[in-house]
Amino acid sequence: MNEEIEKEIGIHGSRWEGFHQGYFSDPVISRHLTEEIISAVDEADPAVLVDLGGGTGYLLSELMKEKIDPEIRLVNLDLSLQQLKRTGSDRITTIRESLSEFKRAQLASDGDRVLFLMRSALHYFGESGLVTVLRHLRAQMKAGEYFVHQTACFTSQISADCLNTIYDGMGTTKWYPTVEVLMPILKATDWEVIRVTDAPGLRLASDELKERYRLSDNTVSKIRERVMRDFGEIDGVLEVTTDGFIAYLSYKIFRCRAKDIDAD
Ligand SMILES: C[S@@+](CC[C@H](N)C(=O)[O-])C[C@H]1O[C@@H](n2cnc3c(N)ncnc32)[C@H](O)[C@@H]1O
Repeated sequence: MNEEIEKEIGIHGSRWEGFHQGYFSDPVISRHLTEEIISAVDEADPAVLVDLGGGTGYLLSELMKEKIDPEIRLVNLDLSLQQLKRTGSDRITTIRESLSEFKRAQLASDGDRVLFLMRSALHYFGESGLVTVLRHLRAQMKAGEYFVHQTACFTSQISADCLNTIYDGMGTTKWYPTVEVLMPILKATDWEVIRVTDAPGLRLASDELKERYRLSDNTVSKIRERVMRDFGEIDGVLEVTTDGFIAYLSYKIFRCRAKDIDAD
């Protein structure tokens, strides 16, 4: 277990899919990503589809409903046993491993083509761990293989700073970049970004964050004061309430392909 997962373990497993107003188990919300994955699968023809930080296996289950080719092996890789235990289908293999440590050989045989998918997991590595984890993921892939991820990021620096201030106040090292910052990082870690599309945002009420990160009323009120002082209310990003706040996390879907490193 790592520290970031340890902090929120109380809402993993049976609580996860209903948390944040059911965002992570809502088929209307996930459709944006599953459609992108299905189209990438059609293009890339993988033997193995791996959901990195796949939680309860929700996305893979949705892809099964979409009748994804039954020959494709489905793998849910996550470090949280509480999440993995909820994976509801025999077709999905679960692997308890860290995204920053797993090896391709754990998922696929030599000749297999692999496709990685990931939703809302990159921010767990913080600002300092982002490049390392992206390099590690790239090192597990062969040139031309696809990585489709829905990652929390912002179009404006002030919005990213506001959310990062909230997360810093909650004592987590989770970190959100802007799209402008993330794109060159993906490129530098040998990912070719084929396209970027929008995904629905996530409403984060301070009451839920309080439960998720086990915060005191005093911590919530200090965060509220700090963001009001440093940012003030921002349309679509931050609202304050009588005793807390509501923040909105924005997401983009990135369809990436592992670059041929030798070709550069
Ligand atoms: C916000 S949840 C998203 C779950 C799932 N992707 C979804 O969209 O429903 C993030 C998931 O990433 C997992 N995770 C975070 N850091 C990880 C790491 N270092 N290695 C493996 N899994 C990790 C957590 O356990 C959690 O299940």
